[in-house]
Amino acid sequence: MAAKASLEMTGGKNIPTIGLGTWQSTNETELETALNAALEAGYRHIDTAYIYGNEAIIGRVLNKWLTSGKVTREELFITTKLPISGIHRDRVELFIKKSLENLQLEYLDLYLIHFAVGTNYIGDSIIPPLDKLKLEDSDHVGVWKKMEEQVDAGRTRAIGLSNFNQSQIERIIKAARIKPACLQIELHLSLQQRDLVQFCHKNNIVVVAYSPLGNPSYNKFLESFGQKARELPNLLQNPLIKSIAEKHGKSSGQVMLRFLVQNNIVAIPKSVTPSRIKENINIFDFSLDAKDMASLQGLEIGEKARICDWKVIPKLQDHPDWPFPKE
Ligand SMILES: NC(=O)c1ccc[n+]([C@@H]2O[C@H](COP(=O)([O-])OP(=O)(O)OC[C@H]3O[C@@H](n4cnc5c(N)ncnc54)[C@H](OP(=O)(O)O)[C@@H]3O)[C@@H](O)[C@H]2O)c1
Repeated sequence: MAAKASLEMTGGKNIPTIGLGTWQSTNETELETALNAALEAGYRHIDTAYIYGNEAIIGRVLNKWLTSGKVTREELFITTKLPISGIHRDRVELFIKKSLENLQLEYLDLYLIHFAVGTNYIGDSIIPPLDKLKLEDSDHVGVWKKMEEQVDAGRTRAIGLSNFNQSQIERIIKAARIKPACLQIELHLSLQQRDLVQFCHKNNIVVVAYSPLGNPSYNKFLESFGQKARELPNLLQNPLIKSIAEKHGKSSGQVMLRFLVQNNIVAIPKSVTPSRIKENINIFDFSLDAKDMASLQGLEIGEKARICDWKVIPKLQDHPDWPFPKE
């Protein structure tokens, strides 16, 4: 079964099916090493977000690669995201300009609304401190019109959504002059989101899978917020995935990523480890057969397996635009 190295994206350039995720990469030396390793290994797609606080580091590395001529801007595919404090019709332009300046780019390839719920914005804080955070009307249609203006102004080639549910996407599609080109959601073998993927594919929306390896370091992130570790699916150690990996002479991570790409889904595994970075893009020299694909599909657990549930910002769940099913 085939796997494409890139997918067509409405309005934009083709999106490479493996990109480098960069969330939780804020150490300058570590991220610089990771980006250099990724670009050397052939990655051309990099995923970041204003809230990751690392756009400026990425910008410095990209600038070196671009000015040295080792890569052209046309070859790169750079995604960043409008933060929750930017989800307001008066703040879209402000935030995309900040991201472009950080990244030292004239345009983005893809700009996403990071989450369905908007908050207040306090000066230069990336997210308002929790005691000062206020929920605001997310005004999806009004904000989308401002996203469209960013395409018109040449600041981004394509626009899309992240962490929106089907009915929220349908509402935007109805009102849109430029339809969403992409939906970025949590997607891995324990949370396959098949209905949402099918809906997106029917509407020519490219699906990008975040936490495609089931983010094995999520508990470290929770602990850094003073929150309790949770029981999470340990996909890298799953015996079925391991046995399929052994059969193909590949790693469990490679099987998980190949499964997504064979289903025409883009994956953005994050790593700061050069050997893993190389491993994660080396998925185009083997193929999962129909039996492998069917047994991997059977690992679906559903909503209970959601890792990145955004509950570290507890107030967000109280908003009527909270995108995930409530318990
Ligand atoms: N839109 C959103 O709301 C949203 C939410 C979450 C994530 N994202 C994006 O999606 C990207 C990926 O998701 P994620 O970071 O949550 O999780 P992930 O990519 O599933 O997992 C990352 C973790 O896996 C480890 N790892 C990477 N490759 C490995 C391999 N081959 N073998 C074993 N371990 C491996 C990494 O460790 P090392 O780094 O130590 O190697 C890191 O701890 C993010 O970085 C971000 O760009 C978006």
